[in-house]
Amino acid sequence: MQPLHPRAAHEPAGRTPVAPAMTKILQEEIEQHGARTAWLAEAMARVMGLDNDTVQAVGEAASYHDIGKQYIDEAVLCKSGQLESHERRHMEMHVVFGAWRLMSGERPGPRLASQVALLHHEWWNGGGYPFGLSGREIPLAARITAVADVFDALSQRRCYKPAWPRRDVMAYLHAQRSRQFDPECADAMREVVSGLPADWHRQPVPMPARRLVPPDGVFPPLHAAAQSLADRLGCRA
Ligand SMILES: [Fe+2]
Repeated sequence: MQPLHPRAAHEPAGRTPVAPAMTKILQEEIEQHGARTAWLAEAMARVMGLDNDTVQAVGEAASYHDIGKQYIDEAVLCKSGQLESHERRHMEMHVVFGAWRLMSGERPGPRLASQVALLHHEWWNGGGYPFGLSGREIPLAARITAVADVFDALSQRRCYKPAWPRRDVMAYLHAQRSRQFDPECADAMREVVSGLPADWHRQPVPMPARRLVPPDGVFPPLHAAAQSLADRLGCRA
């Protein structure tokens, strides 16, 4: 079987993989994406009538949804064009690595943040990963984050793609309503976006005040068990 992690072939058996170094620019890109996704997720949760404590918890959890990308090779994160199947499986591991990161270490994150990190790429119709959950099997916070994540990712320029115009982003969200996205969440996003200024994406957004992990970019090595679980989930491709 082809190694899921490009470096896995070079790792001696049983050795814990070490988190790769990541450029500051990419770290900031991930952090700002986390902050904007959190802001959007909170706004959506408010539109959906959730209480204040839940709104705050959803925002905090959403801010860390992509924390596992710290463990993904930069060459894969920034590759333009289609990923090879082993690269795609490696990229998909960020959900497992993120959940593991939030559950371990000196300051473990709350359960909701781990759930969102693990499940924010599940699809309403069951077509997502890592488990292929569908509908309300997916926790609400993850369904909200999924929409906020995609809205922001498409709206921003990334190292592998230009920013999409807002009308194209909204057309995508509409096309994926009841497919990739919970229709209620997609509707909530539409309402949130209707109040956003056109240059919202060019304004920096602060991270939620309470931090689950240190902001210094220091990431501990993954436990071998997380890699092993990721390897097994990666076989879904
Ligand atoms: Fe993600």
